[in-house]
Amino acid sequence: MSKTIVIGACGQIGTELTLELRKIKGINSVIAADVKDESPEILKDGIYVKMDILNSLMVREYIIKHQIKEVYLLAALLSATAEKNPDFAWRLNMEGLFTILELAKEGHITKIFWPSSIAVFGPTTPKDNTPQVTVMEPTTVYGISKQAGERWCEYYFNKFGVDVRSIRYPGLISYTSLPGGGTTDYAVDIFYKAKAENTFNCFLSADTELPMMYMEDAIRATIELMEAPSEKVKIRSSYNLSGCSFTPAQLAKEIQQIQPGFTITYSPDFRQQIADSWPNSIDDLSAREDWGWKEKYGVSEMVRIMLENVDVNSMV
Ligand code: NAD
Ligand code: SER
Repeated sequence: MSKTIVIGACGQIGTELTLELRKIKGINSVIAADVKDESPEILKDGIYVKMDILNSLMVREYIIKHQIKEVYLLAALLSATAEKNPDFAWRLNMEGLFTILELAKEGHITKIFWPSSIAVFGPTTPKDNTPQVTVMEPTTVYGISKQAGERWCEYYFNKFGVDVRSIRYPGLISYTSLPGGGTTDYAVDIFYKAKAENTFNCFLSADTELPMMYMEDAIRATIELMEAPSEKVKIRSSYNLSGCSFTPAQLAKEIQQIQPGFTITYSPDFRQQIADSWPNSIDDLSAREDWGWKEKYGVSEMVRIMLENVDVNSMV
């Protein structure tokens, strides 16, 4: 079995993706890498390497020496954090991608997964059922970096045959690992506060509708896309992917079905402007037609699972 590396493995997606890939490929075939000194307890069974994706020399040496053939590149600054440090966000989100694309171009890596985001869209994009191909004028540094990344992925595929695959993830909702500084983080935070305090003060307004997805669906989509025969992966920029869409008020109502006393208040901050520039819902027909994507989780099921499983002791 050839080796796989997940770079950014300690994050919200990386933790669960590494666990799932290890189940499929075997513990010793999937290396977890991150800039953090240590991996979370849950990943301690397998190999962990401290790796800064910006240290391209080290990344190159490690990947070549260990004959790693498949790379999941998740290290990035997310939308809210990126707005606070645009220069660094641009550097981190782009340089790492070039290092990996170049390694693939040289023939060291055979397959890359690099995630994009609904943040590639902007205020001029049609908001409802946003099509795969449409106006894209992102207004955040994060969105600009993801859009540029998509263009480069497609370029490396067309020019050099690099097998790179990508999904425009919506906001992801999970309980294994906390989210890392995005605009959709409220939809995770709300469950911790609901369970701990039965109340939540939301940083987005009541009627801000955004596309979201339960993590299990996102991980399954990622692996299905990576396992699809190359000829079925017709889009080499990034695939639209849809799970469910809701507003904070609708999410609160779902929580109240299980916790009738739950209350929500609203104090929109700088993240409101980011959210306002993103779609309400996504049309993912291409993913469905090309490689058979279908979501499993709707809002009610996701809310039930989250309330059952969030560990309020891990809340920061
Ligand atoms: P996260 O912030 O939870 O995790 C990112 C991980 O990258 C962290 O563990 C961090 O320590 C690591 N990292 C940061 N700088 C690094 C460096 N220099 N070298 C190596 N590792 C470094 O993010 P996430 O939510 O897991 O997102 C992963 C990817 O998916 C990102 O590209 C993000 O843009 C994309 N994405 C996420 C969502 C979401 O809702 N979570 C939605 C759309 C796209
Ligand atoms: N969840 C991500 C964010 O809010 C979307 O890419 O930044």
